[in-house]
Amino acid sequence: MNDVEKPDLKNGVPLASFPVGGKLVGVAEGEEVLLLRRGTAFFAVGAYCTHYHGPLADGLVVGDEVRCPWHHACFSLRTGEALRAPALDPVSCWRVEQVGDKIFVRDKLTPSAPKRATNAPSSVVIVGGGAAGLAAADMLRRDGYDGPLTIVSADDSPPVDRPNLSKDYLAGTAPEDWIPLRSPDYYRERRIDLAVRSRVSSLDTKRKKITLENGKTMEFGALLLATGAYPVHLTIEDATASQIHYLRTFADSKAIITKAAYAKRVVVVGASFIGLEVAASLRARGIVVDVVAPNKQPLERVMGAEVGEFIRKLHESHGVTFHLGETIRRVHDRTVTLSGGTTLDADFLVLGVGVRPSLALAEQAGLAIDRGITVNEYLETSVAGIFAAGDAARWPDPHTGERIRVEHWVVAERQGQVAAKNILGRREKFDAVPFFWSQHYDVAINYVGHAEKWDEVEINGSLDARDCAVTYKKGGRALAVVTIFRDLQSLQVEADMEAQLASPRQRRLEAS
Ligand SMILES: Cc1cc2nc3c(=O)[nH]c(=O)nc-3n(C[C@H](O)[C@H](O)[C@H](O)COP(=O)(O)OP(=O)(O)OC[C@H]3O[C@@H](n4cnc5c(N)ncnc54)[C@H](O)[C@@H]3O)c2cc1C
Ligand code: FES
Repeated sequence: MNDVEKPDLKNGVPLASFPVGGKLVGVAEGEEVLLLRRGTAFFAVGAYCTHYHGPLADGLVVGDEVRCPWHHACFSLRTGEALRAPALDPVSCWRVEQVGDKIFVRDKLTPSAPKRATNAPSSVVIVGGGAAGLAAADMLRRDGYDGPLTIVSADDSPPVDRPNLSKDYLAGTAPEDWIPLRSPDYYRERRIDLAVRSRVSSLDTKRKKITLENGKTMEFGALLLATGAYPVHLTIEDATASQIHYLRTFADSKAIITKAAYAKRVVVVGASFIGLEVAASLRARGIVVDVVAPNKQPLERVMGAEVGEFIRKLHESHGVTFHLGETIRRVHDRTVTLSGGTTLDADFLVLGVGVRPSLALAEQAGLAIDRGITVNEYLETSVAGIFAAGDAARWPDPHTGERIRVEHWVVAERQGQVAAKNILGRREKFDAVPFFWSQHYDVAINYVGHAEKWDEVEINGSLDARDCAVTYKKGGRALAVVTIFRDLQSLQVEADMEAQLASPRQRRLEAS
């Protein structure tokens, strides 16, 4: 439907046109508005998600929330508040009134002022200016914390939209001003002290104090460790540092773009999500790309052989050449020699061979560590008042019953949000279903749940037709579901997994 055809909701729409659960996109005061019916109640909110403009009309309504079909952000239908990342900003929300047999969208509601936090620490310091760190700072202010709030980040730049660094920005289709998550005004207005290029070198848990590499010290009432992860580095015989690129930061992405401007051929090492997204983005720039990886299929460990083969064929159809079952033996000038003896020509190499959680600070401070910073269900570490969130944290996942650590943007942000609430004493458990997405050319892959091992893969639909849901099961139980072009199903799977957790059986298990 184009703008001309959209009804003006201020003029009212007939009640008869609304089945229970019905949706309608119209306009009010020049803005596109989604009007929804739940039972006898009507709600009206902005029609597009504040993360990447996903169409909320194609999303899922769960209780009095609407969830975005693209990356599962969640908004309150009653207030418009962005309840769960990746959206951080609210959608507008409108008062709805029924008069006779018509429904009218009336005035826009003004967001209520944050309630003052009563159980607030004297100050909060967040170590890490990434997904978890920024989302935590944002939630602290939203949730009424008005004390001193500092983010200390080793990155060169303020918090950025890291997932975009391997996607549209690297491909040259997203402008640079899309990348910062927030403007300088945002930090000033919310009184968030942001120290970039500042690495914390030690943490004294008894004196509640951190020390930066530059010698500066800071005391804190509560601390959040959101130190993320760093790329695994490989030593490659004869390669010079300038030939090898990694991708984690804005600066890394810019460095690849600068080189790509003059490059004709690039070798990507690793068929991971990041490696493959880099391959796709460099292909968009017309560069010849070879991918070298030891696996039989790309992404096989995470998504199995079937999805791996689909991804390989997708990239091959865009001109990528794979050298699977191979590693790099050496790099001499422009010549890359593989373990099997094949030689490739390359202007430079991008290595995407995995990441490791950044644990140095937690280790030095003596916090409990188990392949990640150990946290409880409230995301609190082994020391009270010190929390951890994001790629660095390993938490007790109620869905699998295991302690897990993942590297997902949405999980990091949601953990940052929950940690913020717990810093304010709200005692909220982190029980979100893990979710991530990855983009390859025009194909988005959504993954809900967590399956490290599985004994059965069930494919509903067709990978080749790009219309499917792939379920990973263990002992007959669905642990995770990958969807391609089935966004609503992905949201439904997430909601179903949440509902299982809330089931009486699960509550009995928790109580026992
Ligand atoms: C190129 C790229 C693309 C990605 N695409 C996707 C995607 O499509 N979907 C998805 O789900 N996930 C994606 N991810 C993963 C996602 O970005 C991470 O899961 C997420 O950023 C983790 O957030 P975090 O806050 O834990 O860590 P980060 O965002 O890495 O932030 C960590 C912060 O801690 C700082 N830090 C570390 N140690 C110190 C210290 N000692 N002192 C001070 N500061 C410190 C770092 O400088 C950084 O600011 C992608 C990652 C990359 C690199
Ligand atoms: S566009 Fe809505 S969550 Fe990303």
